[in-house]
Amino acid sequence: MRIDIITVLPELLKSPFEASILKRSIEKGLVEVHFHNLRDFTTGNYRQVDDYQFGGGAGMVLMIEPIDKCIAQLKSEREYDEVIYMTPDGDTLDQGMANQLSLKKNIIILCGHYKGVDQRVRDMFITREISIGDYVLSGGELGAAVLCDAIIRLIPGVLNDETSALTDTFQDNLLAPPVYTRPASYQGSEVPQILLSGDFPKIEKWREEQAFEKTKTKRPDLLK
Ligand code: ADE
Repeated sequence: MRIDIITVLPELLKSPFEASILKRSIEKGLVEVHFHNLRDFTTGNYRQVDDYQFGGGAGMVLMIEPIDKCIAQLKSEREYDEVIYMTPDGDTLDQGMANQLSLKKNIIILCGHYKGVDQRVRDMFITREISIGDYVLSGGELGAAVLCDAIIRLIPGVLNDETSALTDTFQDNLLAPPVYTRPASYQGSEVPQILLSGDFPKIEKWREEQAFEKTKTKRPDLLK
């Protein structure tokens, strides 16, 4: 899979890809992530990427031309399955969407900034608009990092134990059951006996029950 991220702040985005699972997945060649600085697609000395909005109002708007040039260059090099725009008024990211996107070959992610992008960018180039939740961030960069993490960990081969993504919270509309590690007893707080029993069918059943009870209590909406 290849992900191209278009941003005015590449430095804000890079560090999540330089550690742990994302770093290893890039090193293993399972995913390629490329950052494109919108300022590199401007003309003129000021490298201007934004301007005042027509009709008045506070806040700057990212201009269409640099974005068009950047997307056109990428599209001239390969085909893209999706051109995603990160925005608080997009569809809210969930596990189903992450699963779907993890199967794509090439995607572009455009990060908004300031008041967002000229509406014509959305009308002309964007195939999908994604929000990471009902709150407003200063820009799409952190949202893009969240989206990439959610997608990349699902690419086959990225997680060492392939089954571990399958038992994630949300993967089957259930929250994950509680987990424990050593010591079995800590200041009077004990690990459930069943987990120490070695009876794996019973353990599996216990985990399913726990996942169901936890979901019923904390997120009953998921069971509907
Ligand atoms: N940009 C600003 N806020 C955002 C959000 N909640 N999700 C995605 N992109 C954003």
